[in-house]
Amino acid sequence: MRTMNLGVSDLKVPVVGLGCMRLSGLSLHQANQYLNICLEEGVNFFDHADIYGGGQCEELFGKALPMHADARERIILQSKCGIVPGVMFDFSRAHILSSVEGILRRLGTEYLDVLLLHRPDALMEPEEVAAAFDELYTSGKVRHFGVSNQRPYQMALLQKYVKQPLIANQLQLSLPVSNMIAAGLEANMTSDGAFDRDGGVLDYCRLNQITIQAWSPYQMKEWQGPFIDNPRYEKLNALMAELAEKYGTGKTGIATAWLLRHPAGIQVLPGTMNADRLRQAARASEITLTRPEWYQLYLAAGHILP
Ligand SMILES: NC(=O)c1ccc[n+]([C@@H]2O[C@H](COP(=O)([O-])OP(=O)(O)OC[C@H]3O[C@@H](n4cnc5c(N)ncnc54)[C@H](OP(=O)(O)O)[C@@H]3O)[C@@H](O)[C@H]2O)c1
Repeated sequence: MRTMNLGVSDLKVPVVGLGCMRLSGLSLHQANQYLNICLEEGVNFFDHADIYGGGQCEELFGKALPMHADARERIILQSKCGIVPGVMFDFSRAHILSSVEGILRRLGTEYLDVLLLHRPDALMEPEEVAAAFDELYTSGKVRHFGVSNQRPYQMALLQKYVKQPLIANQLQLSLPVSNMIAAGLEANMTSDGAFDRDGGVLDYCRLNQITIQAWSPYQMKEWQGPFIDNPRYEKLNALMAELAEKYGTGKTGIATAWLLRHPAGIQVLPGTMNADRLRQAARASEITLTRPEWYQLYLAAGHILP
C-alpha cells in the first residue's frame, strides 16, 4: 500500500483507510476477522466519529482490536466530534474535551492520532476550539487536528486561532459527487457544474497542504446508495468494468483509482465491510489510470467538459 504524509505533518498514512461508520453491523468475531484483513492489506488507518452507531462502532473496534502497546503503535486512529445528533453542533471547549474522553474510553486507547471537527458549528468561538486543542495536545491525548465538511474561509478563521496545523479536511467525494472538481473545470461557465458549492476547497487545500479525505467514495448524492452496479449509472459501470478487466481489479478498484489519480493527494476512506471490495480499494494504490481514462470516467459519471 502506498503511503503519504497527512497534510504538513510527519504522520505517514496509507492512501486508503477504513471508514468505521458501518462497523457496528458486524459481530465481535466478524469485526476482529475483518480488521485483521484490513491490516494484512496495509489499511492501518481507521476513521471513526463519536456518533457512529451511537458510540457502538468505536466500542466494538476497541474490543475487536485490543490495543496493547505494540498493536496501538502499528495503527493510526482518527475520530471526530462536534455533532450532537438531531439537536445541534457543538464546538465548545467543554464539548470537545468530554467527547474526546468518551472516544478514548470506547476505543480503549490513551491517544488519538488525529481529531477532526465533524461538521461546522455556526456558534463556534475559535478561541474555545484553540483552548481545547491546546489541552488535548499538551496532555498527549491528541497528536494532530483537522476538520470535516468545511469551506476555505472556515478553515482559515479557525487556523488563525489554533496553534496546531489543520492537516485534513474530510469531504464527500466520489466519481458522481465531485462538484469540487467540476467547478474548476467549468470555471466561469453558465453550466450547472460551474456552481461553486464549497468556496474553492480543492485548490485551497492544495495551496495550504491540507489533505482531503474522501468520504463515501462509492455513493451517489443524498444517501441514494452506491453507484457501483447501479443501473442509473450504466455507462459508468460499463467503462469501470472494461478498465477493471485491463487492470486486473473490480469496479471498486477503478472507482478508488480514479480518486487516487488526482494530484491533490486525496486519501480515500471506503466504508465497505466486504473483504473483496476492501482488497480492491487497498490495491488500487498500485493502479495509475491514464489521463484519457480519468477523463472518460469523469464524463461517464455524468459530468460535462466545457
Ligand atoms: N465526515 C463526514 O461527514 C462523513 C459522512 C459520512 C461518512 N464518513 C466517513 O466515510 C466513510 C465511508 O462512508 P460510506 O460507508 O458511506 O462509504 P462507501 O464506501 O462509499 O459506501 C459503503 C457502503 O456502500 C456499499 N457498497 C459499496 N459498493 C457496493 C456494491 N458494489 N454493491 C453493494 N453495496 C456496495 C457497502 O456495502 P458492503 O459493506 O457490502 O461493501 C457499504 O454499505 C464512513 O465510514 C465514515 O468514516 C464521513
